[in-house]
Amino acid sequence: MKVAKTISALRTWRKNASTRIFLVPTMGALHAGHAALIRSARKAVGPRGCVVVSLFVNPTQFGPKEDFASYPRPLRRDLAVCRKAGADVVFTPGVGEMYAQDRSITVEESSLSRALCGRSRPGHFQGVCTVVAKLFLAVQPTHAIFGEKDWQQLAILRRMVRDLNFPITIIAHPTIREPDGLAISSRNAYLTPIERSRAPRIHEVLQCAAQKRTPTGIERFARKALSAIPGARLDYVEAVEADTLTPLKSRKRPGRLAAAVFLGKARLIDNIPLLVLT
Ligand code: PAF
Repeated sequence: MKVAKTISALRTWRKNASTRIFLVPTMGALHAGHAALIRSARKAVGPRGCVVVSLFVNPTQFGPKEDFASYPRPLRRDLAVCRKAGADVVFTPGVGEMYAQDRSITVEESSLSRALCGRSRPGHFQGVCTVVAKLFLAVQPTHAIFGEKDWQQLAILRRMVRDLNFPITIIAHPTIREPDGLAISSRNAYLTPIERSRAPRIHEVLQCAAQKRTPTGIERFARKALSAIPGARLDYVEAVEADTLTPLKSRKRPGRLAAAVFLGKARLIDNIPLLVLT
């Protein structure tokens, strides 16, 4: 497994690399969800293709009061996870490699980014789009894999690829969950044992809410039940159209039920499909 710290090292490798390259962009602190993404890339790319994993805690997607400084960076452990899951190349740039100090260009998606997490995390998706566009240009993959846990990020990045004509296929990977249903996330590490025992309730509530016949009924049920989790503070819970993230009007169209909940220091996000009801 090759470790590249610079874009120029990556480009040198890229000149002789296979024509099929799967990129798994991550911020490191790899867990079972990331390992599943890398394994799935390994399987899909085939024996002659290459799997590139990027490990980069991207400062531009964190708000001023968010956890950029304390975000875990266990590089040796992450490299071991990448190796075991089948990565060929790991790209580990420093902040100075990715961003010039006087940078003045960003990539902004101006519609889907306004919904859901975009309301409480201004600038977050601009940071995500900018760094992912830069990773796409540095690695030049044919495919890139993102988890469905951040459904909004996936929808925005699909839009970015479409609108900027990146010759890249985006692949969605189903959310990986703990046996009790909690969506696996690096931020679960911030939960105290008591918060951890309450966190699976988020997924349970979303599943129960999805049984209701109308979007209003779904949101009303979920808002009440999520707010009732001891110690939880609800950021949002919304039933939205799966592609456009606009409010879901009826169950005649495919939707997504998405929520963000603060539990102690952790802000947990989750979402599930809302299938069309006949
Ligand atoms: O989902 C993440 O881990 C990050 O938002 C990403 C896509 C790696 C960009 O920094």
